[in-house]
Amino acid sequence: MTTTELQKRDWAALEQKYYQGTFKRLPITLVRGQGARVWDSEGKEYIDFVAGIAVNILGHCHPAIIQAVQEQVTQLVHVSNLYYNIRQIELAEQLAELSGGMRSFFSNSGAEANEGAIKLARKYGRLHRDGAFEIISMERSFHGRTLATTAATGQAAYQATWAPLPDGFKQVPFNDLDAVKAATSAKTVAILVEAVQGEGGIWPASKEFLQGLRQWCDEQNLVLICDEVQAGAGRTGKYFSWEHYDIKPDIVTMAKGLAGGVPIGGMLTGPRTDVFAYGDHGTTFGGNPIACAAGVATIKTIKEQNLLENATKMGAYWDKKFQDLSAKYPHIIDSPRGIGLMRAVNVKHDLAGTIAERALEHGLLLNALGGSTLRMVPPLILTESDLDEAHAILDRSLEEVSKLPAAQQ
Ligand SMILES: Cc1ncc(COP(=O)(O)O)c(C=O)c1O
Repeated sequence: MTTTELQKRDWAALEQKYYQGTFKRLPITLVRGQGARVWDSEGKEYIDFVAGIAVNILGHCHPAIIQAVQEQVTQLVHVSNLYYNIRQIELAEQLAELSGGMRSFFSNSGAEANEGAIKLARKYGRLHRDGAFEIISMERSFHGRTLATTAATGQAAYQATWAPLPDGFKQVPFNDLDAVKAATSAKTVAILVEAVQGEGGIWPASKEFLQGLRQWCDEQNLVLICDEVQAGAGRTGKYFSWEHYDIKPDIVTMAKGLAGGVPIGGMLTGPRTDVFAYGDHGTTFGGNPIACAAGVATIKTIKEQNLLENATKMGAYWDKKFQDLSAKYPHIIDSPRGIGLMRAVNVKHDLAGTIAERALEHGLLLNALGGSTLRMVPPLILTESDLDEAHAILDRSLEEVSKLPAAQQ
């Protein structure tokens, strides 16, 4: 469609008429992307620091993804999991190499990957821990929108409306090993944790905490599940964020960046918890050839283009720039933090949304998590000049916001 054709229709009004109102949209309609940039229906360009919320690891329309999907779509779009599927096996092989030998199961989303992990842990409990089934997860965590993953999510706002939630989930404060130990009982089978909390505001776990969890799980015969849906696939500068902690979980869940933008979920397990047998779990679309071809292309590109190193380098560059911004605007932002290209900053006076709106006006997409956090999860292909440009926009936006009465309180 040309820009003029796109402008002929009022997309916001049409959406209101035809689509359920679960999303609070920002006032633009994105129609095209290339690298770290996207364009709206008016032809306006933006630097994309949202990246589909940590999904477009290789940026938009990366040639490797285009080629993999185009080739696959002309060969085989879908086959049932009744048959062997070459792309699925190839992606599982790549992940085994990256994870030190874990075996995969593919689904279509992060929530679904976590559902699989919960089932696998419960089966382990049935077989090896006297029927234990309870899962301890963390406050401020996010694990998905299905009922079980909502029960595992440690944020009351996501849970309140849906009671009664499934039994067998309990939350404790993040980074508090004693709280985990105190919450463990004969019913406990697993600990579910994000090594870097994403939706909660980009909070990395402490090394003592993750290493302590690993040791506690070993001592108590518990299963350690790492939710890598947001922090995985290279975002933190390592393929899995738990690699920063010198530990290895029993089960790992993935989605978002795994196939560079094509929907997929992944649930990986090491040998100890590899207890699913024929018929225990299944899916119609999960591990479909297109998603898996995109997954293989994504991992290959991350390796060939040294994108883990780039994420580390660009993350450090951005951190330095952001420290300067927080020194310049201490009355609005503080505590810039993160690992690699998974970053956030605290915002005072509930102004995160206002800053994101100003940045949007000036051509930068940022994600406000409530009023008090700005999240930045750009593609791993980012360059220093992208970051310089984003920095200038953010500086301008912060300057404007700092003059608002709300910022003067
Ligand atoms: C850590 C984490 N786990 C699970 C999910 C759920 O993933 P999905 O939205 O693909 O179901 C998310 C989504 O933001 C997430 O960040």
